[in-house]
Amino acid sequence: MTTSERRYHITTFGCQMNKADSERMAGILEDMGFEFSEDPNDANLILYNTCTIRDNAEQKVYSYLGRQAKRKQEHPDLTLVVAGCVAQQEGESLLRRVPELDLVMGPQHANRLQDLLEQVFNGNQVVATEAIEIIEDITKPRRDSAVTAWVNVIYGCNERCTYCVVPNVRGTEQSRTPEAIRAEIEELGRQGYKEVTLLGQNIDAYGRDLPGVTESGRHQHTLTDLLYYVHDVPGIERIRFATSHPRYFTERLIRACKELPKVCEHFHIPFQSGDNELLKAMARGYTHEKYRRIINTIREYMPDAAISADAIVGFPGETEAQFENTLKLVEDIGFDLLNTAAYSPRPGTPAALWDNQLSEQVKSDRLQRLNRLVSVKAAERSQRYLGRVEEVLVEAQNPRDNTQVMGRTRGNRLTFFSGDIEGLKGKLVKVKITQVRAFSLTGERVNESVVASC
Ligand code: SAH
Ligand code: SF4
Ligand code: F3S
Repeated sequence: MTTSERRYHITTFGCQMNKADSERMAGILEDMGFEFSEDPNDANLILYNTCTIRDNAEQKVYSYLGRQAKRKQEHPDLTLVVAGCVAQQEGESLLRRVPELDLVMGPQHANRLQDLLEQVFNGNQVVATEAIEIIEDITKPRRDSAVTAWVNVIYGCNERCTYCVVPNVRGTEQSRTPEAIRAEIEELGRQGYKEVTLLGQNIDAYGRDLPGVTESGRHQHTLTDLLYYVHDVPGIERIRFATSHPRYFTERLIRACKELPKVCEHFHIPFQSGDNELLKAMARGYTHEKYRRIINTIREYMPDAAISADAIVGFPGETEAQFENTLKLVEDIGFDLLNTAAYSPRPGTPAALWDNQLSEQVKSDRLQRLNRLVSVKAAERSQRYLGRVEEVLVEAQNPRDNTQVMGRTRGNRLTFFSGDIEGLKGKLVKVKITQVRAFSLTGERVNESVVASC
């Protein structure tokens, strides 16, 4: 294949971590001389970076894959790659299901894409799903945004929530060193990025696999220490992190967020259920009282903090009264955003084998009831922005109205206002909020102002 014939397309199905992996794999492909092709049907290498968190995510992959497998029968030079969490879960059995596949690679192998593709170009069908120590990033990711960037700080997850496939497909926790993380953020600062989001499935576990303990016996490297360590990187104006786990969330971390001006007052702390018995069955390791205490403490330090979370309805055995405890928690706390899902039994997880599964009808009914409440509460939370001046980091043009630009407040609310993206992209701008909706805001720029730093 000559260089000019190398065109790749990546479709990403999963979470932020999956997206970050796609950006790194795209960087590797571009290093190898591939050019990005918007249209998958015009590409000769197609990579599906897959997700298996719920059954519908997995099924979507198979339908995409079926179409390209057919295309390959007419275009034998097409290279088909399945990466990510379905690849890890299914491994070799994916080759039996879709024999047209060239490469099946788990998430831990993302940085090895070049090596694996070379084996494919030598005529092999390759499966890479064995557990490995993740090699430190050597390539430059091709990032989707020029303003905000994801930075992995810990891979994998050592929790065993009884509904969740992530530990099976992402392996055990592996923290990157603070030096490697800082070096990546410094490079982002030099390239003009303004915001970074530190990523981990359970980011509060950061550092517990790294050597070193303090005199008081705690791990030397924690998320809190990491925030202090990377806070002064030049050029970076905002720092976020996700996902937080209520079991390990500390007051020390809350204090750091208050103290460090670049760390945004936005917390993503999934609670999953508002019922203690269910939390126990899920093996989450906290009670709803503890969760409420965490949110109260955050609000004592930062009264305006934005709080988002994830919740599952219809977990095996969930009674109407237990579901109502989830509604009550949502009612009491008032989330700025809540990602909700109906429980989906996943292969290789304990809860999938229990005999107290609920019907699809009950699950979807509860999901609708919860979603209605979430919209009402989010709209209430948006009200507090009305008339206020918010700092917005401009990311892009509004795709639905090219006289407007869009960006996010420190609390992560999507905000639109009139302006020209040419002059505003990557700028922190003061915006007076004139209209509020449940999940987004509209405003006007104040005095043509640009905030120098936050
Ligand atoms: N590490 C994060 C969650 C990662 S998965 C945490 O601990 O909170 C993202 C979300 O998917 C979860 O928060 C959960 O709400 C949802 N989820 C995970 N497994 C699920 C399942 N089997 N069925 C339905 N939703 C699920
Ligand atoms: Fe899954 Fe629990 Fe790990 Fe989150 S903490 S990724 S829900 S096992
Ligand atoms: Fe999905 Fe894997 Fe993320 S299962 S949610 S892509 S860790």
